[in-house]
Amino acid sequence: MRLLPELIEKNRSWAKNVTAENPNFFAELAKKQSPKYLWIGCSDSRVPANQIVGLMPGEVFVHRNIANVVVHTDFNCLSVVEFAVAVLKVKHIIVCGHYGCGGVKAASQNQYLGLIDNWLRHIRDVRNKHDAALSAIADENERFDRLCELNVVEQANNVCHTTIVQEAWAKGQELSVHGWIYKIQDGLIRDIQVTISGPDEIADAYKVAIGSDV
Ligand code: CO
Repeated sequence: MRLLPELIEKNRSWAKNVTAENPNFFAELAKKQSPKYLWIGCSDSRVPANQIVGLMPGEVFVHRNIANVVVHTDFNCLSVVEFAVAVLKVKHIIVCGHYGCGGVKAASQNQYLGLIDNWLRHIRDVRNKHDAALSAIADENERFDRLCELNVVEQANNVCHTTIVQEAWAKGQELSVHGWIYKIQDGLIRDIQVTISGPDEIADAYKVAIGSDV
C-alpha cells in the first residue's frame, strides 16, 4: 500500500487538537525554534523524547541512534550537537539511555551480527572498560542494567569531551550535560547523577557515577 491513511488521519486530528488549545501554536512555532534541551537517546520506539518528558514541538532538539552512543568521529551526532550548542544555545544536553536496551544487550553477547557489530563495538569497549565491576555482579539482569547505566555515563562523558562542548565552556556559555536512564516498565526516568556544568567537573562526576549505584 502506497498511502498511510491512518497516520495522515492521526496527524489531522492531532493538529486540530493542538490548534483548539492554542490557535497561534503553529504560527508562532513557524517563526523560530528555541529549545532549551538537546536530547541524545536510543532509537527504540518505546523511548520517544518529547512524549516521555511531556514537551511540545519546539522544546527539545533530538538526536537518536542505536543505544544512544556518542562517537568522537560521528559527524552526524557532532553536527547535531554543534547546531544545538552553537546556534540554538541549548542550556542542557541530556544523554538518556534505557534499561532493556537491545543494542546494549547485543553488545553484551559475543554473537556475530554483521554491520551493526561495528557500531556495537563502542558499547563492547564500555563493557570491557568496566569488566571488573560488571563481573562482580552475579545476577545477569542486574549486570545488564548496570551496563545500560555505564553506557550512559560513558556517552555523557564523551559529550563533555567534544570540541563543541569544550569551546562553549571556554567561552563561558551556560551548558550542563546530564545522564539519565529510562525504565520502559514504569515510564520513569532516573537521574544517574552525572550532571556536569564545566570542564573541572568532568572527572569527579565520572568517578561518582562509576563508583555508585543508582
Ligand atoms: Co535501546
